[in-house]
Amino acid sequence: MGILKLTVNGAEHHIDAEHTTPLLIVLRDHLHLTGAKYGCGEGQCGACTVLLSGKQVRSCITPAGEVAGRPVETIEGLSQGATLHRIQQAFIEASAFQCGFCTPGMIMATAGLLRENAHPSGEEIRSALDGNICRCGTYSRIVKAVAKAAGGAERV
Ligand code: FES
Ligand code: FES
Repeated sequence: MGILKLTVNGAEHHIDAEHTTPLLIVLRDHLHLTGAKYGCGEGQCGACTVLLSGKQVRSCITPAGEVAGRPVETIEGLSQGATLHRIQQAFIEASAFQCGFCTPGMIMATAGLLRENAHPSGEEIRSALDGNICRCGTYSRIVKAVAKAAGGAERV
C-alpha cells in the first residue's frame, strides 16, 4: 500500500491504496463517487468512463497510480450545484436512457467528445461512443441527445 495523490473534480485526495488499484475502485470505494459504474471490468463496455486530462478513459483498467498529477473528472463533477450540465439536460430531454446504468459513461464519453469536437456529425458521434454499450438499446436516442447537447439536432 502507499499514499496516492489524486485530483478528482478539482479536489485533491490522498488515498491509501496500491499503485495498481483500478481508478474505478478508488473512485467508488475510497471516494464514494459511485456515478462511474462497474460493468465488464475489462475495458469493453464503457460504463466506467471518466475523463483523464480531458480525455475519456476506462477507469476499470486504469491503475490509480498512473493518474497522479493529472485531473480526473467524473459525472459528479459535471453539474454546477443544482444546475445540470447541458449534456445531462440533453439526455433527459431526449429520454436517452432506460435503466440508466450506461448513462454516466455515455455522458462522460460525450463530454470528452465535445471538448475535442464541439459540433460533431452523427457519424462522428456514433464513432466516439462506439465502445460504450447500452444493454437497453437506446442508441438512437443517445445519439440525438449528444447532437442536442452540441446544439444541432439536425446534424444527426
Ligand atoms: Fe470498465 Fe466495462 S466496466 S469498460
Ligand atoms: Fe440501460 Fe443503457 S439505459 S444500459
